[in-house]
Amino acid sequence: MTQPSVPNPRPNPGPEQPPNQPPNQPRICAPCRLAAIGAVVLALAGGFAYTAGWLTPARLTAPRIIDTFEAVAGQHPGYRRNHAKGLCVEGYFDSNGNGAALSRAAVFAPGRTPVTGRFAVPGGNPSAPDTSSPVRSFALQFRLHDGEEWRTGMNSTPVFAVHTPAQFYQQLVAAKPDPATGKPDPAKLKAFYAANPETQPFQRWVKAHPPSSSLANAAYYSINAFRFTDDHGATRAVRWAVVPETPYAPISAAEQAAKNFLAGDLDERLQQGPLRWHLILSVAQPGDPTDDATLQWPDDREHVDAGTLVIERATSQEEGACRDINFDPTILPAGIAPSDDPLLAARSAAYALSFKRRTREEALHPEIHQAKARTQTQAQAQTTSQTPTPSQTTGEHS
Ligand code: HEM
Repeated sequence: MTQPSVPNPRPNPGPEQPPNQPPNQPRICAPCRLAAIGAVVLALAGGFAYTAGWLTPARLTAPRIIDTFEAVAGQHPGYRRNHAKGLCVEGYFDSNGNGAALSRAAVFAPGRTPVTGRFAVPGGNPSAPDTSSPVRSFALQFRLHDGEEWRTGMNSTPVFAVHTPAQFYQQLVAAKPDPATGKPDPAKLKAFYAANPETQPFQRWVKAHPPSSSLANAAYYSINAFRFTDDHGATRAVRWAVVPETPYAPISAAEQAAKNFLAGDLDERLQQGPLRWHLILSVAQPGDPTDDATLQWPDDREHVDAGTLVIERATSQEEGACRDINFDPTILPAGIAPSDDPLLAARSAAYALSFKRRTREEALHPEIHQAKARTQTQAQAQTTSQTPTPSQTTGEHS
């Protein structure tokens, strides 16, 4: 059968092109090409320098924050730049399925999720007394069965001292040791608190709640708000807390006088059996602040008990799995997302740099690992007869 004739769709190729020249492309002069490449390289270098803070030394960057932590607490190679004193724990989260009504994250489906955690004391000095701050912390890494992770760093206060990263930095600067005394100047801290009334709810809470006698009988709070999205795409603002089954008891006079009682107490309790907390999700109402960690939500908000966190074992932070974890609170599974709280991005950047510095120090100087192990052994050997330095502030740089 003869095919009907079809007009040739190919356009007229035009005048013949020289060899190696793509057809129909305007010619670009060689110096112009070099200039364009140079401009791209300069723009990239400029972007890099800006991000690193080299062009704007007054801008608040992670290096400025981490350098200031080092100026406050001194150099402690291989350690976290904040919450330096701590220990690792292992266990699991037993979900009862109730959290699935708020978030589609696999961690809230009924069943067990393995957890690595870290208890710590705020501040950049790994040898500080346990009583150097009224605040303790509990960080968790949930390893979800779908391969995702949920990392959280919680403190034992429901509110934070400051609202913005800039205030956090100013608070750190105010806590820098006075070269004459080697200690923070109380007048500078007082002036900081007076100039920043947002710090008052935190100060009031700390005054009304003496620290607990143990890491095991304290509640720990996310403080920052997050956004939970359920299976149907509905999103709500949520804060969470882990609330202990072990009844609260205030710190005793003997513990107050001891330098290192928290780790030993935890070991003793774990020898008797696992320790348990309930993961409580608090749901915001429209209008509740999600961008201000200094403000609590009213008590009558919906609370969901999502399951039980069970801690079975503790190890030193030199040997345990938590050593190499950056508990960046913005590492979240699908179904949980950061809120508009400005502290979250600042935390993520600062934790990353702290992690980079401490792991680099350990990699380049393996002797640091041995020195850290010695510090740990000495800390364990310290007796309860030592009198701790009294807390200088209510939780600076918590
Ligand atoms: C701008 C505000 C903040 C900055 C700059 C900051 C800075 C830091 C840094 C540098 C570390 C060490 C991280 C590492 O090397 O792994 C750290 C640890 C920690 N921070 Fe913050 N922090 C801030 C706010 C908060 C808030 C609001 C909370 C409370 C929920 C918090 C809780 C923790 C906890 C629990 C740890 C210890 C994590 C661990 O055990 O490894 N921080 N912080």
